[in-house]
Amino acid sequence: MSDPGSGVNKVATVSLTVNGRRRRVRVPPMKRLLDVLREDLALPGSKEGCGEGECGACSVLMDGVSVNSCLIAASQAEGARIVTVEGLAPARGVSRLQQAFIDFGGAQCGICTPGMLITATELLRRTRGRVPSDAEVREALVGNLCRCTGYQKIVDAVRAAAGAGRATKRPAGAKRGAKRASGAGRSKTRRPGRKAK
Ligand code: FES
Ligand code: FES
Repeated sequence: MSDPGSGVNKVATVSLTVNGRRRRVRVPPMKRLLDVLREDLALPGSKEGCGEGECGACSVLMDGVSVNSCLIAASQAEGARIVTVEGLAPARGVSRLQQAFIDFGGAQCGICTPGMLITATELLRRTRGRVPSDAEVREALVGNLCRCTGYQKIVDAVRAAAGAGRATKRPAGAKRGAKRASGAGRSKTRRPGRKAK
């Protein structure tokens, strides 16, 4: 970060990598990363639910770790690698995880979905091809709240994505691409915004 300026209206230049692209923004150092992403970088996929680190709707990957972007100041993201829900899909179509959310009804109103996808992505990178148990998925997603699905459909979707469909059979009648699941914790331990497990 450079060019701090002075006074209450000071702005600073923050350099970070977002979805693989180097970005520089001039923002107040304490502006929330969530707002930087949505307002300054035109990436509205990350959602605001509570704004207090409780719901996980604002989750992004920060240097590979799922964090609540409503609790991260812009200055804390200096030099970080950020991945938002917009960065999860391939150039065309949706990722396997996103498709599983579609197939299993893991996305309903969709407010929680970007955060769920981000945190599930972190989990699946950790498990490296092993299908996580129901309990593991639920523990990983403990900081992501959903008011619609009852969670089991989300758990099934994550496990199916891990096992290429082996963990849980795709529900009969599910249509591929029927509904977009692109979507476009609590206090932290490893770094600000890190979700508690
Ligand atoms: S908006 Fe709820 S945790 Fe960030
Ligand atoms: S799908 Fe509506 S809050 Fe999760």
